[in-house]
Amino acid sequence: MELKKALRKEVLTKRTHLSEYEWKSKSESIANELLKLDIVNQAKNIASFVDFRNEVSTDAINRWILSSGKSLFLPLIDMKSRTMTFYKIMDLNELVRSNYGIMEPNPSIHEIIDPHRIELFITPGIAFDPNGYRLGYGGGFYDHLFAGLGIEIPKIGLAFDLQCVTDLPLEPFDMRITHLVTEYGVKKF
Ligand SMILES: Nc1ncnc2c1ncn2[C@@H]1O[C@H](COP(=O)(O)OP(=O)(O)OP(=O)(O)O)[C@@H](O)[C@H]1O
Ligand SMILES: [Mg+2]
Repeated sequence: MELKKALRKEVLTKRTHLSEYEWKSKSESIANELLKLDIVNQAKNIASFVDFRNEVSTDAINRWILSSGKSLFLPLIDMKSRTMTFYKIMDLNELVRSNYGIMEPNPSIHEIIDPHRIELFITPGIAFDPNGYRLGYGGGFYDHLFAGLGIEIPKIGLAFDLQCVTDLPLEPFDMRITHLVTEYGVKKF
């Protein structure tokens, strides 16, 4: 959809203007807000992601999940089959850099998990609207994934406030998240 394409470009351009200091301090605020949530503290099996370019940093979050004795699952995207699968990660140093430059699990050493066993999803996104709809990178990977899971599963988007928009171009298959965390706090939908 052309409208989505244009909005991705607009928001990503805005995001590149964050200074290193702003990126770091806002990411820290977002991590603090996220880790205060009861649903995060109560979940044992948590899916997260590894930040790419100047996305909200998930490094402290992923380390916290591991050090809290919870299980951390990270996504691997297969462009050929157009699927995203999650693997259990116990050591962040074991991730490998994909062709796109994203740090991903290694299927030859990491164990795959049935997404139905995951209790909470921490999700990336380019833009978010006031109703919990999200605009991703355009692969439909999260839309597919969430469509196959119960709507009540907590799905927490992480974003800088500059990624929040009043209007998103939506299509029937776009899935909503349940919470959005920005540097200003948590919004529940
Ligand atoms: N549940 C679904 N079943 C079939 N096709 C789907 C489904 N969800 C999304 N798609 C396909 O995915 C493509 C990309 O969708 P969209 O532009 O909304 O991606 P996105 O939300 O930005 O990406 P992502 O979900 O990876 O963050 C669409 O062209 C659509 O055909
Ligand atoms: Mg979508």
